[in-house]
Amino acid sequence: MNKNIKRGLYCKMEKAKTYEQLVPQVEALIKDVDNHVGALANVSALLHSSFLHYFWCGFYIVKGDALELGPFQGEVACYTIKKGRGVCGKAWEDKQTVVVPNVLQFPGHIACSSKSRSEIVVPVFKGDDVIAVIDVDSKGYSAFDDIDKDGLEKIAKIISPLFMTCSDRSISC
Ligand code: SME
Repeated sequence: MNKNIKRGLYCKMEKAKTYEQLVPQVEALIKDVDNHVGALANVSALLHSSFLHYFWCGFYIVKGDALELGPFQGEVACYTIKKGRGVCGKAWEDKQTVVVPNVLQFPGHIACSSKSRSEIVVPVFKGDDVIAVIDVDSKGYSAFDDIDKDGLEKIAKIISPLFMTCSDRSISC
């Protein structure tokens, strides 16, 4: 096995281990916390500071027929994304994780930052409904793989109780 393949395997193992270690940390961050915005801000900070390949990381939350910007870490981002639009809207519409190795080749990609080169968007479910998405951008091409997908999907399940559905809200949405 050549050095680059070995280094690649080592990096993948390290990344998987980091996601594994994040699970109890995320659980601890949200346990008994009433401040959902603060908890999501802390989860985005934890994720962002745990991985070098994360450039932007945060949440878009379903409100009516659009996703609205939630807590995040990184550069300023767009406020609203319609269902089916961009990578986030596609993950919402298809109810599945979308991994984009090169955002420049993704039709309809919404470029909040021109520095972004690859992206992963993971839906957060309440029952069968998508209630939010986790969005992560990288400055590098092909930065996200199945390890990121598995790790973020686990985290999406843990944080699901932090999001309210429209019927939970006292105001209309
Ligand atoms: N690129 C996303 C928009 C959100 S930003 O990346 C923060 C998209 O195409 O949905």
